[in-house]
Amino acid sequence: MASFQTLSVALFISAIAFHSGLVDGKFSKSMYFTWGAQHSSILGNGDDLQLVLDRTSGSGVQSKKAFLFGSIEMLIKLVPGNSAGTVTAYYISSTGTKHDEIDFEFLGNLSGQPYIIHTNIYTQGIGNREQQFYPWFDPTADFHNYTIHWNPSEIVWYVDGLPIRVFRNYQSEGIAYPNQQGMRVYSSLWNADNWATKGGLVKIDWYSAPFIARFRNFRPRACKWDGPVSITQCASPSPANWWTSPVYGQLSYAKLGQMKWVRDNHMIYDYCKDTKRFNGQMPPECSKPQY
Ligand SMILES: *[C@@H]1O[C@H](CO)[C@@H](O)[C@H](O)[C@H]1NC(C)=O
Ligand SMILES: *[C@@H]1O[C@H](CO)[C@@H](O)[C@H](O)[C@H]1NC(C)=O
Repeated sequence: MASFQTLSVALFISAIAFHSGLVDGKFSKSMYFTWGAQHSSILGNGDDLQLVLDRTSGSGVQSKKAFLFGSIEMLIKLVPGNSAGTVTAYYISSTGTKHDEIDFEFLGNLSGQPYIIHTNIYTQGIGNREQQFYPWFDPTADFHNYTIHWNPSEIVWYVDGLPIRVFRNYQSEGIAYPNQQGMRVYSSLWNADNWATKGGLVKIDWYSAPFIARFRNFRPRACKWDGPVSITQCASPSPANWWTSPVYGQLSYAKLGQMKWVRDNHMIYDYCKDTKRFNGQMPPECSKPQY
């Protein structure tokens, strides 16, 4: 444990010291298709990505680089119309059985019915920390900004600049926090009609296929991670912004007010309130202040 701590202190210092490395956000340079490339595409001058799901397959991309801490930003326009059974995912993850992962997933719905914005976090391979929201806008009409802000003291999920969820570092109290493993960025569009629609009640309507989700403005303002012993590099533009703002001061009162509004009015599921699921043995972070 001591060596891990020493390591994270070393990384912390090197991350602050290296502001020079620019991580190109262009899909064409920074990502590659992991599946479904035959019917999906990177368009424009490499800034636009289109993922397609049809009867043959879904599709997905992942970043070439891994990151440790940063602000990972993506604009997404979700599958319009009857998208029930489709899931668009946007998340960062390390690999292995003790992997860390921070998720946004968007569960499609019948035309005119609301999507679900699904969030989760895995630390050391353990997830079960879902929180879900209805969007307060039509996520299929235009692009919206989904940002994962991850620093040594907290993780914040943002939608159009509004914080919707915070996961704080309580490692000193024995709650695992993702700060040892570099994570890559993933996006995918897939058929999840066996779980996404209330446990498979509604099946994908293949007559509405192909389903298309659009992505743009992928911007990893983040520290590159090249493995446990090498140096991480923080990327421009403006690494100082994400590094210094909510890290020590945490969210401003204004941001906290926005988050309260979202959670009071648009949250539909919170694992910390699901006493039945956990048989009363609630995950330990549920009794700590999260923001
Ligand atoms: C779909 O719409 C129904 C009815 O409004 C809603 O109960 C459900 O949460 C929505 N989302 C999904 C993924 O089923
Ligand atoms: C997206 O949201 C993040 C977090 O609020 C913000 O820093 C960033 O400037 C936004 N990007 C765009 C293109 O609006």
